[in-house]
Amino acid sequence: MDRIALFSGNAHLQLAKDICKYLKISLSDATVSRFSEGEIRVKINENVRGKDVFVIQPTCPPPNDTLMELLIMIDALKRASASRITAVIPYFGYARQDRKDQPRVPITAKLVANLLTVSGASRILTMDLHAGQIQGFFDIPVDNLFAVGVFIDYISKNKPKDLVVVSPDVGGIKMARAYAKRLSADLAIIDKRRDSPEKTEVMHILGEVRGKNAVIVDDLISTGSSLVEAAEALKKAKAKTIQAAVSHGVLSGPVIGRLDSCEALEKLIITDSIPLSKEKQHPKIKVLSVANLFGEAIKRIHNEESVSSLFD
Ligand code: R5P
Repeated sequence: MDRIALFSGNAHLQLAKDICKYLKISLSDATVSRFSEGEIRVKINENVRGKDVFVIQPTCPPPNDTLMELLIMIDALKRASASRITAVIPYFGYARQDRKDQPRVPITAKLVANLLTVSGASRILTMDLHAGQIQGFFDIPVDNLFAVGVFIDYISKNKPKDLVVVSPDVGGIKMARAYAKRLSADLAIIDKRRDSPEKTEVMHILGEVRGKNAVIVDDLISTGSSLVEAAEALKKAKAKTIQAAVSHGVLSGPVIGRLDSCEALEKLIITDSIPLSKEKQHPKIKVLSVANLFGEAIKRIHNEESVSSLFD
């Protein structure tokens, strides 16, 4: 591992340290600060010439700052002659803007992919992309890990009988099916309508949930509208207990108030792909770490070994 170097921006230092702990290496030294007018200032404080470099930076809130820090760090590493630069993006922000679904809107996920490539990234390591097809926005290798294994280990420990895995929208069916298969559980799907970026409405529930213990699975929770609406609808349909397993806790806007007032939802399990700030901590939220998953993937990428078993 002597040719490897791991750097972190300011987005999630703790996750970077935990990954280093798994790999038994120390975090490499870089200064990522601000000039007085707010521009990002980066200085790589050690020699990276010829090294296999990984930069850990989820592009989580504030997304424009975290993304820009990542781009500038990659540029600095490229100019310092790193031999390969992997952008490790545990949460890939802007992923929901992945298609032109209205007139005169951008495809920002594609723009971000272009920016990462132009800055000098040689490959991308990420997890539970909002849509798997975003891999095709890149012409460099992309490894999209799944958090499902981490969640299944946790849920299986206290697995209730009569479990039903619920997708909160039709776009999440593939993910929900993977959970249902591994938990030997039934599957249900919610047909939801999005009225605005902050407000959704449940139209129908497809599948049997009455008297069952429901686990809603999703790639991300932002304002909490989708999750809370789904939990209320499941309660109305007489589900016995309701919990949620959501890969990325973006947790923005009114989400904490919504979690507070939603009696239907007992527990929200998220990963540490995004740091959980003190103000966002809530008794219903349980955080599982994906540091070992990323550490193992980084080790295998560095050793030119297959990472495919991590996708099982
Ligand atoms: C939708 O396609 C996503 O998978 C999430 O369900 C959604 O983006 C969550 O957003 P919010 O928490 O604001 O409803």
